[in-house]
Amino acid sequence: MPTTKSAKNHEISLYTKSSDSGLKGLFIVIEGIDGSGKTTQTKLLAEKLKRQNLNTLVTAEPSDSPVGKHIKDILNGNLNVPPQMLALLFAADRIEHVYFTIKPALEQGNIVVSDRYYYSSIAYQGGMGVDQNYIRCINSFVVKPDLAFLISVDPLSARKRLKDQRKQLQLTEDEELQLKAFKIYEELVKQGDLIEIDGNSSIEEISNSIWELVTGKLIK
Ligand code: ADP
Ligand code: TYD
Repeated sequence: MPTTKSAKNHEISLYTKSSDSGLKGLFIVIEGIDGSGKTTQTKLLAEKLKRQNLNTLVTAEPSDSPVGKHIKDILNGNLNVPPQMLALLFAADRIEHVYFTIKPALEQGNIVVSDRYYYSSIAYQGGMGVDQNYIRCINSFVVKPDLAFLISVDPLSARKRLKDQRKQLQLTEDEELQLKAFKIYEELVKQGDLIEIDGNSSIEEISNSIWELVTGKLIK
C-alpha cells in the first residue's frame, strides 16, 4: 500500500511494506537513557522521511496529555509518588497517546516516530524496583512498533552531554537509576525487543545506521 505523495515531476518510489502491527503505517521507536541522543536522532530521521515525501508524525513520551503534564511535574521534583504509581501514570499517558495520536496516524498510513515508548517504563520503572511483569502487564494493550532502536551510550558519557546541556536534572536522571536503566535496556536488546545502535559514534554516523534499517522496511 503506497503511503507516499506524488512529487511535482516524478513519483516518489518508497512504499511501506505491510507493517508488523497490521496497521497501514510504519511505527518506529527511539529509546535510550537521558543524553543518549534520542531527540537529535528522532528529528534527523523525521527530516529524512519527510524529504522522501513520506507523511511522518513525530511524537514523544511522556506526552502533552493531562496525565503527561502531571508526570512532568513529578519528574521536576514537585511531587513524590511511589514507583508503582509512576508506572501506572506512564501507562495511562501511553493509553491516551496510542488511542488519540499513534493509532489514528498509523491507520491513515503515516510513519510515526516516537521518542520513547513502553521500553522506557521497563527500563526506568524496572530500575526503580517495579516488577517487570507488572510493567509489561499494564502496557499489554500497546501497538507493537515495527522498529524499536536503542541508542546505546554508556551512562557516564550520556551524563556529561546532559550536564553540558542543562543545570537542573529530573528525578529520573539520578546517576544510579540511569545505570540501572542502561542495564535493563541492554537486556531488552539481548531478548530481541530492541535493535542496538552504537550511540558513541558521530551524530551523522548514527543517523545513517538508523536510516539504513528504516529503508530496509521500505520497498524501493
Ligand atoms: P536525549 O534526547 O537522548 O536526552 P539529545 O538528543 O537531547 O539526547 O542529546 C543530548 C546532547 O548530546 C545534545 O546537546 C546533543 O547535541 C548531544 N549529542 C547528541 N548525539 C550526540 C553524539 N552522537 N555525539 C555527541 N553529542 C551528541
Ligand atoms: P524525556 O523524554 O527524557 O524528557 P526530556 O527530554 O524532557 O528530558 O523523558 C523524561 C524522563 O521520563 C526520562 O528521564 C525518562 C522518564 N521515563 C520513565 O521513567 N518512564 C517512561 O515510561 C517514560 C516514557 C519516560
